Amino acid sequence: MGMFWKFTGLFIVSIAIYIAYISRDTFDPESIRGKRVVVTGASTGIGEKVAYQYAKLGANILITARRENLLKQVVKKCLDLGAQSAHYISLDMQVINETGKLITEAEKTLGGLDYLVLNHALYSLELWDGDIEGLQALMNINFVSYVNLATKALPMLSESNGSIAVVSAGTSLFSLPGVIAHSASKQALNGFFEGFRLELNYKELNVSVTLLFLGGVATDHAIDLVQDRDMLAQFGDPDEAAAFIMKATSSKQTWAYYPWAAVRIPEIIHTISRDLCDIMMTNSFFPMLRMLKI
Ligand SMILES: *[C@@H]1O[C@H](CO)[C@@H](O)[C@H](O)[C@H]1NC(C)=O
Ligand SMILES: *[C@@H]1O[C@H](CO)[C@@H](O)[C@H](O)[C@H]1NC(C)=O
Ligand SMILES: *[C@@H]1O[C@H](CO)[C@@H](O)[C@H](O)[C@H]1NC(C)=O
Repeated sequence: MGMFWKFTGLFIVSIAIYIAYISRDTFDPESIRGKRVVVTGASTGIGEKVAYQYAKLGANILITARRENLLKQVVKKCLDLGAQSAHYISLDMQVINETGKLITEAEKTLGGLDYLVLNHALYSLELWDGDIEGLQALMNINFVSYVNLATKALPMLSESNGSIAVVSAGTSLFSLPGVIAHSASKQALNGFFEGFRLELNYKELNVSVTLLFLGGVATDHAIDLVQDRDMLAQFGDPDEAAAFIMKATSSKQTWAYYPWAAVRIPEIIHTISRDLCDIMMTNSFFPMLRMLKI
């Protein structure tokens, strides 16, 4: 056997061992029992499912979103599933000076905090139309409120050796036409929280930050927006995405991708060659946008 093949074989085996190592399941469901968890954007979609994941394992839960009637239903279901306690506070994440109420409420109802799951986001599928006020509102919701909540929660989280989950998106790693404002707000999240995590390390605060890069997930909202069956077939499952978020956060992973191939492979291509990425976007994504009449 030639030297080349020996090295190639060794290389492939090393990669396989590395992938097996990074994807091993070290999650202990018992570790969630009695933990104090805040989930934002929890009235529908992935946030709602995340609340149920923690509920099933016996956590104390505080959820938020805007719509009180939906929050009430989610709280009830959390209790039915086995949450030790479940509360809600209705908030609009666009009004930054009000968002801190969530953390005050956590202190009051939970008496501390172990997991802060930042998940809420505004997104729609449309070409940029010049709406600057809309963009500022979107940045408040998708970015500034995240920073405010993480900052306000930090004292409680450092007391508990807690964790922050930041739900970002595949479209923060490579921009997609049709969602560029959303994409820009998620890039801001990555930029802030990657460095924030390092600053916490620098200050020797034992609070983990997990950035979760989510690709398409078949939530009701996504199904409404996309409507195309073939495209939706490639989307991830909301329950699976929620379990993934909980596990990656609890094992204090720094980065996590879901669905892995749909997010990680385009990211790698984008890193290797932005030009190649452009060509792929033009050839595969433009026809999709036309089909969706955007
Ligand atoms: C928050 O800001 C708005 C205006 O931007 C103001 O009307 C409101 O009173 C402020 N609330 C608090 C709690 O400061
Ligand atoms: C946080 O971690 C430190 C170091 O391991 C430990 O001494 C402390 O008891 C932990 N605090 C909590 C609340 O778990
Ligand atoms: C950080 O917190 C974890 C518990 O979540 C604990 O096991 C670990 O020892 C702590 N590390 C330091 C350096 O305090």
